[in-house]
Amino acid sequence: MIKKLSFVVVLALLGSAVVATAQDKGPHDAAIKGRQAMFQTYSFNIGILSAMAKGKMDYDAEIASQSAANLAAAANFGQAAMWPAGSDSETPGNAKTRAMPAIWSNFEDVAKKANALKTASATLAAEAGNGLEALQGAIGDVGASCKGCHDDYRAPRR
Ligand code: HEC
Repeated sequence: MIKKLSFVVVLALLGSAVVATAQDKGPHDAAIKGRQAMFQTYSFNIGILSAMAKGKMDYDAEIASQSAANLAAAANFGQAAMWPAGSDSETPGNAKTRAMPAIWSNFEDVAKKANALKTASATLAAEAGNGLEALQGAIGDVGASCKGCHDDYRAPRR
């Protein structure tokens, strides 16, 4: 009987050890990883378009159209759950993030910069399948919109 009881106690202790490990992760890690996955989607698709625009990859109208449509779709993701307060790069305990605290005190400006990407990527989605020159003409504004936000709100790599 006593042996059985202590076995139950050991199980309970093991259980709480598992819970403690889970809590060692930051409370915002899922949101941080979610938004980083969105940015990786931006990056993958503009990478293809940029390689075509620079002549490092043969222009292909279908792939160009698809990549630009993917980018425009990702630019329109709802982000309300991706930026919880406290998920910035200065708050200890978070997963690795380069999101500067300034984001949370300038949400309106951040939204403006996100809108610049929405507009530029919509134009690119309309143009990318219309030939290499059309792609080249529309990609610059997209790149500028990425940079416009990173300059103010993305911390340098550490
Ligand atoms: C409105 C602001 C904003 C715009 C627009 C924006 N970014 Fe970012 N980007 C960020 C922030 C903030 C981070 C840091 C996120 C983090 O680490 O939590 C980031 C991170 C990234 C990362 C790193 C993701 C990772 O896995 O850590 C890549 C790649 C990236 N952005 C590419 C782009 C590209 C390409 C564009 C344009 C097509 C773009 N971003 C547009 C704000 C922006």
